[in-house]
Amino acid sequence: MSFFNSDSDILDGCTEIFWIVIRFLVGLLTFLLFIKMFSRNANRALPPGPKRRPLVGNLLQLKGDEMFYVKLNELRKVHGDLLYLELGSVKMFIVFGHEMNKKLLQDEKDRFKFRPQWLIEVKSLGLSDGIVWSNGLQNDKLRKFAIPAVYPGLGPVTLTQRVQTESGMVVQELTKATGDSSVLKRIFYEAICNINFCVLFGDRYDYKDPEFIQFISIMDQLLQRGGVKNILNFFPFLQKLPESSKTKNSKRLLRELSSLIHTKIESARESFSNENITNLIDAYLAQESTTDAVTEENVCHIVRDFFVAGTENVAIGILWLVGYLTCHPDIQDKCRQSITETLKDKETIDMDDVVKMPYLEATVHETLRLANIAPLSVPHAVVEDVELDEFIIPKDTMVLTHLQSVHMDSNHWDDPSTFNPDRFIGPDGQLLKNDAFYPFSIGTRYCMASKLAQMEMNLMLCYILRNFKFSEGPKLLKHTQPGAFVEPETFNVTWTHIGS
Ligand code: HEM
Repeated sequence: MSFFNSDSDILDGCTEIFWIVIRFLVGLLTFLLFIKMFSRNANRALPPGPKRRPLVGNLLQLKGDEMFYVKLNELRKVHGDLLYLELGSVKMFIVFGHEMNKKLLQDEKDRFKFRPQWLIEVKSLGLSDGIVWSNGLQNDKLRKFAIPAVYPGLGPVTLTQRVQTESGMVVQELTKATGDSSVLKRIFYEAICNINFCVLFGDRYDYKDPEFIQFISIMDQLLQRGGVKNILNFFPFLQKLPESSKTKNSKRLLRELSSLIHTKIESARESFSNENITNLIDAYLAQESTTDAVTEENVCHIVRDFFVAGTENVAIGILWLVGYLTCHPDIQDKCRQSITETLKDKETIDMDDVVKMPYLEATVHETLRLANIAPLSVPHAVVEDVELDEFIIPKDTMVLTHLQSVHMDSNHWDDPSTFNPDRFIGPDGQLLKNDAFYPFSIGTRYCMASKLAQMEMNLMLCYILRNFKFSEGPKLLKHTQPGAFVEPETFNVTWTHIGS
């Protein structure tokens, strides 16, 4: 038996099918139009940016050898101070120039203070147990716990004394060494590592101590991690694949670090006295049995954070200082003259002395401004849709504040590409403030160790310049970014002991 009994039945059947198809097509068209209108509205509300390709977004437009922050500067020229990109599935919003960065980091700080928790590194390595990648109350609690250790410092031996001791070691090491800027970088790096060890564990190491070497090797390897650039962030479906050897290696390194710190904690426990807190481990032991205490896991991640966020960058900062002063012998002489006139025969140098040498401080400021060791902030994020001017920043967008663009903003700096410490000297001869200077960022997530970092740079510079003359360097330093930070390309330099 057929479905249609007669011709008219067939005709009726055809008409019915015809109308069903028409209704379906109209419905589909309306649906598509609605989607198009909706997405056009959504797109219209996003900040400007280059055209995005399906699946990869803007990834291909960012290919090339240039450093990421330089590439972003090029896109800014086309799209303006607020830039929106999609890197695979990562939504990214970049903010340029002093006005917009100040607005975002200070005026709108409560909406932009978060860190992206969905980054593969953060998730798979549990990094949100530390300071850098935690959010909200956890971040407040850990910052509050750790800040006294990095400034003013814990215990009877002051941070200044720690920096003085290590500066003395740098002078000794420089006396023995020769070579190019890579030799200097290693010497500064080991010294800054040792200051961090004092902050964390209370004692410095001999540079040849196997434990010191083991710690440094773990930190060196952790610094090589891909961070935001890890492809698994852009294509999350790849996260379903078995763990990569890199992730396995990082987990192994973090386990090794935890076990080293555990041993440190156990030996500190034996001699612990509540009356004599001298370092971060002591501070941990003192609160261990209180409610809502900082955990051992937290301490491991804080140690990791301090090394990753606060060792290589300071060493590179001192390297930039030496580099700029080698390129500008007149400025080097002026700094040294200021040290000689201010300190005369005084052997140890502290921050009270530095305050009396505004030109030296201005030189450190100018180095931080022009070197831009951290040209972009650590990634911030929005955790809900946020309206900013006429734009919408969608929930879970990564936010990068382009600090280099602030320091090169010609509305705030005359001839910004020139190294000129005098721009930080006021008419009264004292250090001049400029609101468009924030190498340590501003707002809720500003660098909690900015005072320690500046003290290290200022004091080490004094000790180094008092003892050595740097010459035979290049005319200009080139910026390069082999890892997390921007450093000078290896340069030739000769250092001659001049005595103090
Ligand atoms: C020249 C040296 C340094 C520079 C240029 C620098 C710069 C920065 C910048 C730009 C940030 C990101 C702020 C943001 O996301 O808005 C930051 C965060 C941070 N820095 Fe530094 N820093 C330096 C030294 C240090 C040192 C010596 C330590 C510790 C020993 C340290 C520990 C941290 C920590 C823990 C954070 C994360 C803060 C948070 O997320 O709450 N930094 N730093």
